[in-house]
Amino acid sequence: MVYYVRNGKVPASRHTYDDRKNLRREELFGEESFEGAYSLLYHLYEPTNSSGYRVVNRNVDKYADAAHIHRHLLTGNSKRGGNILNGRHTILMNDRVKVQILVPSETTNDFYRNADYEMLIFVHEGKGNFISPFGNIDFSTGDYIYVPKGTTFRMDYSEDAYFLILLSKDTLKIPPRYLNNYGQLKEGTPYYTRDIRPPKFNKPETGNGKFSIHVDFDSYYVVQDFKTSPLDVEGWDGYLYPFAISVHDMAPIVGKLHMPPPIHETMSSRSMMVATFLPRKYDFHERSIPISYYHSNVDVDEFLFYSSGNFMSRKGIKPGSVTLHVRGLTHGPQPGAVEGALGKEGTDELAVMIETYDPLRLTEYGATMDEPEYMKSWSQ
Ligand SMILES: [Fe+2]
Repeated sequence: MVYYVRNGKVPASRHTYDDRKNLRREELFGEESFEGAYSLLYHLYEPTNSSGYRVVNRNVDKYADAAHIHRHLLTGNSKRGGNILNGRHTILMNDRVKVQILVPSETTNDFYRNADYEMLIFVHEGKGNFISPFGNIDFSTGDYIYVPKGTTFRMDYSEDAYFLILLSKDTLKIPPRYLNNYGQLKEGTPYYTRDIRPPKFNKPETGNGKFSIHVDFDSYYVVQDFKTSPLDVEGWDGYLYPFAISVHDMAPIVGKLHMPPPIHETMSSRSMMVATFLPRKYDFHERSIPISYYHSNVDVDEFLFYSSGNFMSRKGIKPGSVTLHVRGLTHGPQPGAVEGALGKEGTDELAVMIETYDPLRLTEYGATMDEPEYMKSWSQ
């Protein structure tokens, strides 16, 4: 939920019609049954009028038979392949969260919808267009695209597109501590309402054709075919819709002494916190140690995706690298990193972090990218 948006033509009152001869088909799109955020969409055609469906089984994500230890996964070596329907690979997961990589080799005109998960798509590389019944969102490197559970969409993108996709079964929200009593983003938060980019509305698509929506139930798709476009919306209003926000529009919070990860929080659900490490000035105490102290983060697992910049506290890290630091095993700067950081004034690193409250475990696919020496990287 963000703020109220109204686009296109909507009836004067909800659940009414303006023209009996041109009835529009009202859809309530909401989360958490009828209690959560929602929008009302007005279709030209009945959104249930499918001409057929089929169930298509998918490869089920499996946990690797591997210990829950610190990991370094080299996703930057991923080969291009597939599209959003068949090219997403789960590298880490638990019962409520998945982390996927999509390095596509093609686009598809078919539509995708996730029945179970909220999606936060981070654009690591490339640019393109996110296309949904709410309208279009132009995106480029450094954007997060928030996709509410159940959103129908497809994407066009450039040949270098590379996405990190975070999935949460629990509703992803702007952190409540960032909002005042009126739902407005407060002063002092890393981004402001103006930085949030809702879809740009288009005229509804009319006429007959062939359109498919692949509804993702994790281990299978229900593919529904339609003769009319799902982009047939004449207008909508409400609080629930996809939006984008660029890391380049965010303002990092810095301090006199080292700030812990939650200061960089971006969005969160009951099962995870998403944070963004932005290029920033380092701590300004004259004897500050500007990189992280050693810690064992009991109660959370820490995932980091290194997108760009120079990652001072870790050796061997490249753009596209993922580290997982698990609960209970102490981690921190590698040998020499503290000495190397003293006196430095800032960092150009850009990284996406998630903390999960349940253990985030390696999948069989993730294990294919595992750099096996990582646990030894603190040894001198
Ligand atoms: Fe950490």
